[in-house]
Amino acid sequence: MVPEPLIEVVPQAPPVAALHRLWLAVSRAGGAVAFVPDSPEQEIRAAAQHAVDEVAAGRLHLLAIREGDELTGTVFLRPGPGPRVAHRAEVVRLMVDPSRQGRGRGTALLTAAVAHARALGLEQLLLSARGGTPLPAFYAARGWTAAGVWRDALHLGPDDRRDEHWFQLRL
Ligand SMILES: CC(C)(COP(=O)(O)OP(=O)(O)OC[C@H]1O[C@@H](n2cnc3c(N)ncnc32)[C@H](O)[C@@H]1OP(=O)(O)O)[C@@H](O)C(=O)NCCC(=O)NCCS
Repeated sequence: MVPEPLIEVVPQAPPVAALHRLWLAVSRAGGAVAFVPDSPEQEIRAAAQHAVDEVAAGRLHLLAIREGDELTGTVFLRPGPGPRVAHRAEVVRLMVDPSRQGRGRGTALLTAAVAHARALGLEQLLLSARGGTPLPAFYAARGWTAAGVWRDALHLGPDDRRDEHWFQLRL
């Protein structure tokens, strides 16, 4: 397991290059974070830039693992954008560098995101996981409640349609 102090709430936007590097490596390795393995690098870079801008604007909260100079894991919280949904947040872009997966970092990031959401006074979290991957089981095993399946919500390629599995956690 990764010791908890390694995970920090990043108060300011991280360098785009660091997030781009991580996101690219995770996507190329088949990670389910908005892209497919052969997604164009410039699209991933644009997504990293957008995420950094959203952190800077305060619309996304970033929790990260840094090891040496490297960003090796992230998770973001996106609080609901308005009074009717301000009590909740979406958990997005949970990702760990492929060379470091399977050793507790993802679980530790998710736990830290939940703790951060509680500290913000939020009442519930939601997230979606790509069907046809171990991810729905990953969240179910960590106490999240299955809230429904959106059939064929994702088009990963001409013959590759996936369901989106939604999960909820009451805080
Ligand atoms: C999902 C992910 C964040 C988990 O982080 P991790 O550090 O590898 O996970 P941990 O070591 O804490 O926990 C191991 C668990 O992750 C699962 N796991 C390991 N590698 C995985 C992978 N590439 N994809 C999905 N799940 C994976 C294992 O099945 C194991 O589940 P279990 O303990 O319930 O049996 C990480 O594997 C990852 O970055 N995957 C690619 C990005 C991604 O798909 N993110 C999900 C967005 S919804």
